[in-house]
Amino acid sequence: MKLCVIGLGYIGLPTAAMFASNGHYVLGVDVNERILETLGRGEAFFSEPGLGEVVRWTVSERRLIPGREPLPADAYIICVPTPVNPDHSADLSYIERAVRSILPVVRKGNMVILESTSPPGTTRNMVCGILRESGLEPGTDLFVAYCPERVLPGRILTELVHNSRVIGGINTESAVRVRNLYSCFVRGEMYITDATTAEMCKLMENTYRDVNIALAAELAMICEELGINAWEVIRYANKHPRVNLHYPGPGVGGHCIAVDPWFIVQRLPETARMIGLARRINDAMPRFVLEKIRTLMKDIDGTKRICVLGVTYKPDVDDLRESPVIRLISLLKAEGGYSVITVDRHADYEGSRERDLYEAVRGCHLLLLAVNHREFRQVDFRRIRESMAYPCVLDTRNFWPPEEVEAAGLRYHLLGWGRHADEKSPDGGVPVPAGGGIGGPEKR
Ligand SMILES: NC(=O)c1ccc[n+]([C@@H]2O[C@H](COP(=O)([O-])OP(=O)(O)OC[C@H]3O[C@@H](n4cnc5c(N)ncnc54)[C@H](O)[C@@H]3O)[C@@H](O)[C@H]2O)c1
Repeated sequence: MKLCVIGLGYIGLPTAAMFASNGHYVLGVDVNERILETLGRGEAFFSEPGLGEVVRWTVSERRLIPGREPLPADAYIICVPTPVNPDHSADLSYIERAVRSILPVVRKGNMVILESTSPPGTTRNMVCGILRESGLEPGTDLFVAYCPERVLPGRILTELVHNSRVIGGINTESAVRVRNLYSCFVRGEMYITDATTAEMCKLMENTYRDVNIALAAELAMICEELGINAWEVIRYANKHPRVNLHYPGPGVGGHCIAVDPWFIVQRLPETARMIGLARRINDAMPRFVLEKIRTLMKDIDGTKRICVLGVTYKPDVDDLRESPVIRLISLLKAEGGYSVITVDRHADYEGSRERDLYEAVRGCHLLLLAVNHREFRQVDFRRIRESMAYPCVLDTRNFWPPEEVEAAGLRYHLLGWGRHADEKSPDGGVPVPAGGGIGGPEKR
């Protein structure tokens, strides 16, 4: 078949390459010249295991070719962004433009597939509404479905093949045709449903995680007030066979979990109360960390110097989108009285990539572990202690063993552990160490 994939980003390019390497001819359309030029040379514009090879082969065989506009094809697959507006509504303008771009070329019998994460009803109402302007009727002349992704960056090609998928058609025939198309490379189960159910499935997968992280964040705040250790609570509560508490952190970031729940809240703000509250709790975590920093730094006169380890939204990736650490840094800067230096070899953020941890921490009053990148696991706390102006560590990820940090002469503080909040636990007992102590909590 001839396919046209519209939007060649993190989802569109691997999807186009998979179809092209499994028997189809694919026109990859994008509005970004750099992406088209890179693809024209047979290269992927981002690094992902295995992607470079499959792009090189499919381009050299002319099974995948770049283009600026859609051309007549049997199926159109839309993979454009769906960012969130400042008022938390979904920006559907990219989808609208992408669907309009196929109106001049779409023909009776074509499939139109939306992969972009979208608010419930987008396929049935917006996509089909625009397609009708072609004079063709979705459901009879055109086969229209929503077919979302669940891939994890770093494993995209493997997960494209092996993950199960939900395919939501505007009618059964649409869903069946789309399932048959994807079966050329998908080995996971493919479940057929209606388009709005599939849209809601995609949103609820990320909402489930967001709500659970908010619950852990709230637990962290509660435990700080109670003078106990949230990580300890989570560890033991999760021994229950049907409990799976998530872990707290300085907030939720990325382009999915921090965004998708708003698409439900936007549609049904009065009904989606817990989902909205969870979003607000997670969004408030950088401020909670700021307040903790204020308390820890209250005895420091003049500018408080903070060394922040990690700025990305999650460990071992270079992605800064919606990073709560960057929000925290903005809050510190807005408040004034703080100078912040960042260390993160993954990220281009204010010189963070080149900086040496032991140089950066020199003269600092606080070492803040914000992202648990692998390379921060083994650090020389004695060396850190020697160069800091004030011996204070705040671990927001339960990443470091407190006894090791404290043995080096540093004061260890953990997000969600009320130990140092008022310098005593409520029962006057000695708090149990977070990691590595009696039943130290499992790591995230
Ligand atoms: N990245 C992920 O891990 C992931 C996972 C699941 C779902 N999604 C969803 O998939 C969708 C795409 O995400 P992504 O990460 O690939 O985005 P992206 O920003 O990496 O790529 C989107 C591409 O679409 C192009 N584009 C925009 N408008 C266009 C138009 N009118 N015509 C042609 N090209 C156009 C952009 O130039 C860009 O290259 C989003 O809705 C996202 O929420 C992403």
